[in-house]
Amino acid sequence: MFNNQLLNKSDLQKKLTEYLSSYNVPNSDGESQIIIAYAANKNLFIDVDFKYIDFKILQKVVFERVSGKPLSKILKQRGFWNHVFYTNQYTLDPRPESEIIIENILIDYNKVNKSNISFIDLCCGTGCLGISLLDEFRYSECNFIDISSEAIEVCKKNILNTGLYKRSKVYKSNLFQDFPKENLIKSDFIVSNPPYIPSGHIKNLEKSTLFDPILALDGGDDGLFFYKEITNYLYDIEYKGKLYFEIDPLITDQLIKFLLEKNVKISYKKEDYLKLDRLIKISFPFTD
Ligand SMILES: C[S@@+](CC[C@H](N)C(=O)[O-])C[C@H]1O[C@@H](n2cnc3c(N)ncnc32)[C@H](O)[C@@H]1O
Repeated sequence: MFNNQLLNKSDLQKKLTEYLSSYNVPNSDGESQIIIAYAANKNLFIDVDFKYIDFKILQKVVFERVSGKPLSKILKQRGFWNHVFYTNQYTLDPRPESEIIIENILIDYNKVNKSNISFIDLCCGTGCLGISLLDEFRYSECNFIDISSEAIEVCKKNILNTGLYKRSKVYKSNLFQDFPKENLIKSDFIVSNPPYIPSGHIKNLEKSTLFDPILALDGGDDGLFFYKEITNYLYDIEYKGKLYFEIDPLITDQLIKFLLEKNVKISYKKEDYLKLDRLIKISFPFTD
């Protein structure tokens, strides 16, 4: 169907876009460019030379894509902030809406006159949040934590690919259970995008999300399991740093109710580019 009988790469891209659209693939124009670049072993469509496109690879990717598998899971990569991250069936694909977290932490810490920042990416998955921040704060160090051995391997690969291994430590741990307490106490902030889909809602998610691992999605009966565990633990140890949680409109109201009852301060709540609640910043009442 797609072969080198086509005259040039823009004809190919046009045909591929129409084909993907006919299968209701969203952003078919953008995805067709990514697929062609991938089949020519290039990062960007603009750099592709038509004669180097491998049509066998292209056909295979297109076949999987129209069967409903997300492109990031087929290519095992997804762009986030300034990098392309490796991802697979054991990790949540980095999402563009999470970039609002990076934007706001950058604003907060560019205002702070502190050269060495130590922070934690809790429930790190691919490591997209911690790696993006490490890259922005040149003198920072990050501790990455995830319970999944497979996700930990993916995170390590991304740390290596981005050359940030000297300022990174990676821990396999159930939340803070096997994480050194002294590292926690000295950290300036924690960023976390924990699993937050209420268990009963998982079956109703759109098909593409179901290619992400359940371990990365399931937030317990009300979706708040991890938020409560993390906040309660930090409260109990009288944590002095800040806590940034990715959130979702599904759980925002209940989460805010819990936080107010817990007597922690909500420094702010931010929306993403779709005007959906996406980030909450928390301070504990133990700051010096
Ligand atoms: C929603 S994903 C977030 C991944 C990544 N931070 C991001 O924003 O794309 C949640 C992650 O939490 C991890 N996780 C689930 N339960 C955990 C636990 N008890 N302790 C630590 N990590 C956990 C999952 O393996 C998954 O990688």
